[in-house]
Parts: sequence; structure tokens; C-alpha cells
Amino acid sequence: MASVFDEIKTRRTFAIISHPDAGKTTLTEKFLLYGGVLNTAGSVKGKATAKHAVSDWMQIEKERGISVTSSVLQFAYDGFHVNILDTPGHQDFSEDTYRTLMAADCAVMVIDGSKGVEAQTRKLFKVCGMRGIPVFTFINKLDRDALDTFDLLDDIEKELGIATCPVNWPIGSGKRFRGVYDRQTKEVELFSDTRKGSVMGRCEMIALSDPSIRERIDADQLEQLEEEIELQDGAGSEYDLEAIRAGKLSPVFFGSALTNFGVQTFLEHFLQMSTEPLPRTSDAGSIDPMKEQEFSAFVFKIQANMNKAHRDRIAFMRICSGKFTAGMKAWHVQGDREVRLSQPQQMMAEKRTIIEEAYGGDIIGIFDPGIYSIGDTITTSDEHFSYEGIPTFSPEHFARVRQDDTMKRKQFMKGINQIAQEGAIQIFQELKGGMEEIIVGVVGVLQFDVLAYRLKNEYNVDIHMESLPYTTIRWIESSQTDLDKITGTSDMKKVKDLKGRPLLLFVHDWSVGMTLDRNEGLELSEFGKA
Ligand code: G4P
Repeated sequence: MASVFDEIKTRRTFAIISHPDAGKTTLTEKFLLYGGVLNTAGSVKGKATAKHAVSDWMQIEKERGISVTSSVLQFAYDGFHVNILDTPGHQDFSEDTYRTLMAADCAVMVIDGSKGVEAQTRKLFKVCGMRGIPVFTFINKLDRDALDTFDLLDDIEKELGIATCPVNWPIGSGKRFRGVYDRQTKEVELFSDTRKGSVMGRCEMIALSDPSIRERIDADQLEQLEEEIELQDGAGSEYDLEAIRAGKLSPVFFGSALTNFGVQTFLEHFLQMSTEPLPRTSDAGSIDPMKEQEFSAFVFKIQANMNKAHRDRIAFMRICSGKFTAGMKAWHVQGDREVRLSQPQQMMAEKRTIIEEAYGGDIIGIFDPGIYSIGDTITTSDEHFSYEGIPTFSPEHFARVRQDDTMKRKQFMKGINQIAQEGAIQIFQELKGGMEEIIVGVVGVLQFDVLAYRLKNEYNVDIHMESLPYTTIRWIESSQTDLDKITGTSDMKKVKDLKGRPLLLFVHDWSVGMTLDRNEGLELSEFGKA
């Protein structure tokens, strides 16, 4: 029987990131196709029926045609257990995406070959950089006219500040797309028609030195390929697995997810180049999944009311070490009590399945009776350590929120607190004329709509919002936390967060510096610790 460590070694957990429309969903779908989870492509996302099947939990997603929530998918391939953390494409939900990246060991970045690096990719990439996680690049849509290959690589290097190393090289694009050249094996993988990807497609390899290649690829394209490869070999970064694993070099692959081309090649290289789950930092030092026998996990996402019929709340956990079994008891460190981990689930497209066991590297959803918060640690270790917190990102938009019906204050407070616990919004309190007023801060404005919608639908509370001009928030880090004693600027507001910690809101960035100048010893921080 395989040991817990043997199981963990087969885990590969990555987040898939892209600017909307670059082909993230299509690529994910093709991975599942190769993993044997889907029989035909299109089950995750087809035309009208299942456009958002992966995360079709909220009406608002359907109405707006955007994906609000992230989801987790699993498949097995060649002895590996792969967990894909899908991230919402809409830029307004970047905070959720950031947290998802905390649960991943590496990221797959999908870029549209006709567009290069786009705004959303840049933002997400910054977070990957902050965590130093490896990034694998898949340049997609080569069946359409793509930008020049060198320009694409240059773009990634300049925009994202990371060296690139193309593992393969495209031969033409659009109507003249002929396939990719593998720089290591010196073979060409010929592009074949897969009827828009509904079938797997033959994988036809032919050595570049084989004379018969001339019958398959036009002479001018072969000549161009040889020139480009010579140039790249001479000037580009060399393949260096260590640098890839350290997040310093991004291996680049070319393909066309829609037509299945290059997907399997990418997947196989990815599985070999990426690592099993690595040690994570806790307040008791680094916890190594290859040494720690006990189960440990942290909550990176909370999703309420995924299924309206059940009005349930699920805490998503990333297992960091050991083995999980359904119904097991463990210690909830932040709650300082023992919990039973019940109704464990994994997501498979639109279906949720109950699982019996899972291992370090896996992502599971646990029934949450309202006790977990983002960043909490759960473990069976006697040493009740907690994993490094997940940073709270600074909201950039603020509004004062009140319930229309004063009699519904209780439901309003319950709803807004629960939604804040999920991390979708941040709430702050201000004292105004003896009344506690609620100020909501969000990273993206669409979250205001989601808040109003959810309060109405899930808590039966109508609200009105008064938008506030603040754009900048600072937590007070120094021991000087007596708000009354702080001399600020005229555009500054003093508030408290849910945990009673004091903080300052500013209309203008520059007021932060002025406030620091006026208060000796005051220390302000951009991120509130979870
Ligand atoms: P996203 O999750 O990153 O937002 O992108 P998604 O996979 O939904 O793909 C966006 C659009 O790009 C889809 O077309 C999809 O079919 C198309 N696409 C994805 N990969 C490729 C590719 O390799 N080549 C080409 N030519 N197109 C690709 P759509 O018309 O918006 O959606 P649908 O109606 O086809 O589902």
C-alpha cells in the first residue's frame, strides 16, 4: 500500500491564470479530456447550456455572464493527481484570485498569441512573483494569426519581469500554422485538424532533419524556423530546471487549446517540470509534507450558499501535510477547539462529489457551520501551529451601507458579517452620532452589486449605499493606536475594522505621507493581517 508520502509525491496543484478570453476555460477543459474526466470536450463549457458550469453558483454570474467565483477541479494523468484551481476571469474579483494563488504550488499562465500580455495577466503575475511560485506559460490560439514569436517572448520578459525559455517554437500561425518544433528533441509536432478539438488528434512527430518534412511544411517556413531557432539558441535564456522551480524562468509552450494542439505536450512537460507540494511556513517553522505525518490544512476561501436549496457554507482548504479522511477530528487553531471535518467535497465541473480521503496538495471543501475564517489552520498535530496568514488586500472603493428597514438590523449585520468572513468584502465601523455605521470596502466595484444582491436574496435585506470618495487605506501598526491622538489631513477618516483594529481612510494618496509627517512614531501598513 502506498504511504502517505508516496501519495503526496504524485500531487500537482496549480492555479490557471489569464486575461479573460485568452482560453483558460478551453485549456482546462482539454486537460480534463486528457485526464479522462470528460469524454468529449464541451462538457465544462459548451455554447448555451453550460457556459459557466464550472462555477455556476450565483445568479449574478449568469446575468452578467462573468465568473465570480473560483473553482477547483481534479484529474489523474499518468500516475499524477492534478488539482487545478480555476480563477475568476473578471478583474473585479482579483482578491479572490490572489487568495487562490496562495493555495497553489505553481501557476499556468495562458496568453492569447494575438494579444500578448494583457492587463489582468500583469496583475496576477505580480502576485505569483510575490510568492515566488513557478509560472508555466502557454501561448494559445496559434490557429489564429499570432504576434511575432520574439515579440511575444519579449513582451512577457519586459511586462512581467521574468526570463523565458521556449520549450517549443511555433511554425507559422493562423492559416499557415504547421505545428511546433521541440527544441530539445529537434522534432516537429505537426498540427492536425481535430475538428475543433472534439477528438484528441493524432500526435505526429517528425524529425526536422527528416527530408520528408519538406512535403509537409513550405520551404519558406522551414527556412524561417531555422533562422529563428538559431537566433533563439544564441540569445535566449538556457533551459534551467532549478530556475524554473524557483519562479525565475518561465518555460513557454505554444499551442491551440481549441483544436487540442500542444495541450498534451504541455501537460506532460508540466508534470515533469513542476514539483510535488513543498514545505510551507508556519509559526512553528517550516512544515515539510515529506516529513510531517500529521494532517494540516489552511482555509483559503469560503463560499456561502453555493446551493440555495441547502443554504450551506463551504470552507475550501488546501491540505499541506498528511492524510485527510472523511469525518476526522482535528484542531481548529484559530477557533481553539476540536472540530469534525464533515461532508468533505471536491468539485467536478458542476457536480460536487463527497470524498473519503485526500492528501497533502489536494484541495477540499468542508461544511462550515460559520466558524472558519480565511487563513485559519486545521491540524491533527499536537503542536497547534498555524500557517502564515493570507494578506488582506487593500480595498480601493468604499461605500457607507445601511439597511432600508431599520427593523432588519440583525439580519443585515449577520449577512454583512458572513459575507465579510468569506473575504468578498471588508467592513469597517465608524461612530457617527452615537450610531455604529458600516462602511464597506471592496477591491472591485462589482462586489458592491454582489453584496446588494446577496443580502437581498440570502438574507432578505434591502440596502442602500452611499459611495464614499476614499481610495486609500492604512492599518495602524505602531503601538500608538489611540485614534483620537492622531492628527490627520482633512480628507482622512478614522475607522475600525471587524477585529476592532484602528485604521485610516484617505481620499488622496499623498495624505498618507503628510499624516506620517505630522505624527511622530506612527507606523502605517498597506495590508491588514488576516
Ligand atoms: P477564458 O476562460 O480565458 O475567458 O477563455 P475561454 O476558454 O472561454 O475562451 C475564449 C474564447 O476563445 C472562446 O470563444 C474559445 O472558444 C476561444 N478559444 C480558446 N482557445 C482557442 C484557440 O486555441 N483557438 C481559437 N481560435 N479560439 C480559442 P467564444 O466564441 O467566446 O466562446 P464559445 O462560444 O466558443 O464557447
